[in-house]
Amino acid sequence: MPLLEGKVSLVTGAGNGIGRGIALRFAEEGAVVGVMDLEPASCERVANEITQSGGRALVLAADVSRADEVGSAVRTLVDTFGPPAVLAHNAAVMPTGTLDQTSEKDWDRVFDVNAKGAYLTSREVVPLMRRAGGGSIILMASVTGVNGLPGLAAYSATKGALIALARAMAIDHARDGIRVNSVSPGTIDSPMLHEFVDAQEDAEGTREDFDEMHPVGRIGTIEEVANVFVFLASDQSSFVTGANYTVDGGLSVKGEQPQL
Ligand SMILES: NC(=O)c1ccc[n+]([C@@H]2O[C@H](COP(=O)([O-])OP(=O)(O)OC[C@H]3O[C@@H](n4cnc5c(N)ncnc54)[C@H](O)[C@@H]3O)[C@@H](O)[C@H]2O)c1
Repeated sequence: MPLLEGKVSLVTGAGNGIGRGIALRFAEEGAVVGVMDLEPASCERVANEITQSGGRALVLAADVSRADEVGSAVRTLVDTFGPPAVLAHNAAVMPTGTLDQTSEKDWDRVFDVNAKGAYLTSREVVPLMRRAGGGSIILMASVTGVNGLPGLAAYSATKGALIALARAMAIDHARDGIRVNSVSPGTIDSPMLHEFVDAQEDAEGTREDFDEMHPVGRIGTIEEVANVFVFLASDQSSFVTGANYTVDGGLSVKGEQPQL
């Protein structure tokens, strides 16, 4: 029995990488998927992949940091498929640098996309879920929101904010039947990672360091993260709210700072 049969789901940043993986896994489990991304062509590609496999999907090209675009995308989703039972806020940008290397423009943008995007999308779906008797909201955080990693100051601050937001919302909306959790991956084999690794002087060495710093001896896969999203979106996790699921091969419990 598919775990998400007929559940209308909104996935942000679904055009590439882990978000695409979440959208495809949701569809495999029977969900109807609103594919939201900044890039219309990526949305279309992923929506086509879903429909060609017999699923149902809707292209929702929108910037998660823009209230007007988020509002109109959610209205389109509701008009087409009905109110969402699941929100997976996964869209993010990742400027690198220590705090003093971070421009004000980068600081504002990373908070606008990663943190305010969670606020804007959740603000649209919470009243709809409440009216429908419940739902599941999953915010994509990161181990950087739990542990310090070098050179990711602003990005890490947004991920810590998302973990705290999920906990606060879990309490506020528990009696509405809305569960809110966050997921904190370690390093995942994804385009965002490739971009980071390729920009390093010793790309191959950096890649090996990433494998080595995870206690299991390797980085994670997109499917390993998407599977946790499926669990949290499904009724299998009906008593789980306010949790932060680390999907990191043991990185966050290692007890020593990884050397990158
Ligand atoms: N890749 C990793 O190792 C890793 C580790 C921990 C957490 N994460 C988190 O997982 C999520 C996905 O990461 P990824 O590696 O797939 O990244 P990615 O860059 O491949 O994908 C991010 C997606 O978000 C979209 N996006 C960016 N800004 C947007 C906006 N304003 N509105 C709508 N969409 C927007 C992009 O177009 C892209 O499709 C992010 O939240 C990231 O922080 C990734």
